[in-house]
Amino acid sequence: MSELLHIENLTAGYGAIQVLHGVNLSLSAGGRLALIGRNGVGKTTLLKAVMGLADMKGGQVKLDGIDISKWSARERAHAGIGYVPQTRDIFPSLTVEENLLAGLKGRPRSSLAEAYALFPRLAERRNNGGQQLSGGEQQMLSVARTLLGKPRLLLLDEPLEGLAPIICIELMRAFEHLAQETGVAVLLVEQKVDDALKFAPLAMVLERGEVVHESDSAALRLRKDLLERFVGVAGAH
Ligand SMILES: Nc1ncnc2c1ncn2[C@@H]1O[C@H](COP(=O)(O)OP(=O)(O)O)[C@@H](O)[C@H]1O
Ligand SMILES: [Mg+2]
Repeated sequence: MSELLHIENLTAGYGAIQVLHGVNLSLSAGGRLALIGRNGVGKTTLLKAVMGLADMKGGQVKLDGIDISKWSARERAHAGIGYVPQTRDIFPSLTVEENLLAGLKGRPRSSLAEAYALFPRLAERRNNGGQQLSGGEQQMLSVARTLLGKPRLLLLDEPLEGLAPIICIELMRAFEHLAQETGVAVLLVEQKVDDALKFAPLAMVLERGEVVHESDSAALRLRKDLLERFVGVAGAH
């Protein structure tokens, strides 16, 4: 399959602070990659660098072989990159539907129906205010808003964080369905390693801003030593 995202020797951070040191990454069109690692190792910064929200000091980020390193976040969104931040950016004072309408930006309203089909809970709660939603529903809304842009590359930053197991199952099912139906490529950052490694066939481990392991996920799931050392969990079961 053709390469969609190519990151080479990426050095990035915030102002004078350097967080990522020479990261290389490749993701094919329609591919899925799990990015794992402890808190503070630079996972969010890597997603932000792909989206154009971190300061790049060196290296290249390419989409479809085109260097987008100097593109703004808006230009990258137009080019098909969708970012669901760890902070679940929704408007708490707007209803579910108003949040989605705000994300439409001139695209047809039929996109709303697609979002509701993917997340029936949002359809049920379309007139509820953002602040009335549970954490899981807020996450669904945040994902749904990003999907309105019809991304070819979806960056998910710890979508399961703080959510009940039953909601995690619902979300992962939705991601699975979405990936199969639309062929969107997914770069998934997730501390729930078991879920991440089941979803994505390829995995990368980050430690202090560097890639310390790369393999297929099935192989990594057996490497309890690595998971213990770099993620702090006894591993997938
Ligand atoms: N806006 C920021 N300004 C300065 N430093 C930051 C900022 N955001 C994150 N950092 C620092 O960058 C490092 C990596 O953070 P982050 O990418 O959020 O890690 P992770 O997502 O893996 O937990 C941390 O040391 C963090 O303190
Ligand atoms: Mg993070």
